Formats: sequence, C-alpha cells, structure tokens
Amino acid sequence: MREERPTRDQLRVLIPEERLQARIKELGAQIRADYGDRPITCVGVLKGSFMFMADLVRAIGGDIRCEFLAVSSYHGGTRSTGVVRITEDLRTPIEGQDTLVIEDIIDTGLTLDYLLRSLQVRGPASLKTCCLLDKPAHREVALDSDYVGFSIPDEFVVGYGLDLAERYRNLPHIAVYTP
Ligand code: IMP
Repeated sequence: MREERPTRDQLRVLIPEERLQARIKELGAQIRADYGDRPITCVGVLKGSFMFMADLVRAIGGDIRCEFLAVSSYHGGTRSTGVVRITEDLRTPIEGQDTLVIEDIIDTGLTLDYLLRSLQVRGPASLKTCCLLDKPAHREVALDSDYVGFSIPDEFVVGYGLDLAERYRNLPHIAVYTP
C-alpha cells in the first residue's frame, strides 16, 4: 500500500530565510544590549529551537553558556494536548545565573508557562524568554515572551526547526502547512 505523504504543494513560505536571519540579528543585538557584558545561560527547548538557538547565540555574542532541555507537548499532532512533560532535563544548575529560555513558538502558552514555573524554583538570577514565533490567537495562559521574533497568524507552521511529526525541521525558512 502506498504511504500518504504531504507534497511540497501543501507548504507555503511565510517567513523567508533572509527575513528570519535579519530579525535574529536584531534580536541578538537587543538581547546583548539589555544584558550588557553579563554572561547569559541560554536554555534551548528541544527539539524545535535547535536551529534558532544556533543562530541566536551567535547574534548575541559575548559570554554565553548553552544548555538544553527537551519537552513533549504535542505528541505528533497539530494541536497542543496541554500535557507538558520534561523528557530531558538540564544537566547543570541555573542557580544564580541570568537565564534565557529559547523557544521556537508560543501557541497556547502552556509549554512555556510550565517550563518557567519549573525553572523559577531553581533560583536563577533572572529568567527571561526569547521566542522566534508567537501565535497569540490560541493563548490559554496570560503569558508574553520578553523577546519575540515574529507574531504570526493562527496557522500550523513548519521549518527552521519546527516539525510536523518530525518532518520539515531542516527547511531554512518558516512555511505554513495546510493539511
Ligand atoms: P504551546 O504549549 O501550545 O504554547 O505550544 C508550544 C509548543 O508546541 C512549541 O514549542 C512547538 O513545539 C509546538 N507548536 C506550537 N505551534 C506549532 C506550529 O505551528 N508548528 C510546529 N510546532 C508547533
């Protein structure tokens, strides 16, 4: 039996590579200006933020530590289940450190809300967030990211780290996926 796979026609470029890269440079400069020359512990939320994190930490420059944790909240579908789980935790403490959580996208806000609550109790010197994309239409908790790359309409997007059932993470741009 032939496997049903989405075709290229179901992807429409929403944010081209050049716009992404230009905005990330701006974000990096803004973040570095806000923190001065203080070291920043960047916590990338896997897997979706891996590409954004790689570009953003270079744009911020200066003294940066890179840490990662992994969460699962979607279970392969296109809508949040509201159940968030840390599947891989930080390997080092963030106590006393200026900590910046780097996320790919906020949709309902449930993932980031849960993460911030779990990290705040670990006693960071400060805790801020930087999200590449913000989809404000479906917010279920009152939560705004300190730094946002782009506000986007309520559509399911893939590319530049974001996936649909593990596909499309390697696209260099953000595309809208239409089922
Ligand atoms: P939230 O908990 O609803 O805010 O969703 C946050 C997480 O859901 C993100 O870290 C993504 O992994 C995933 N997500 C939300 N919207 C999209 C999307 O449009 N494309 C791909 N993943 C998404």
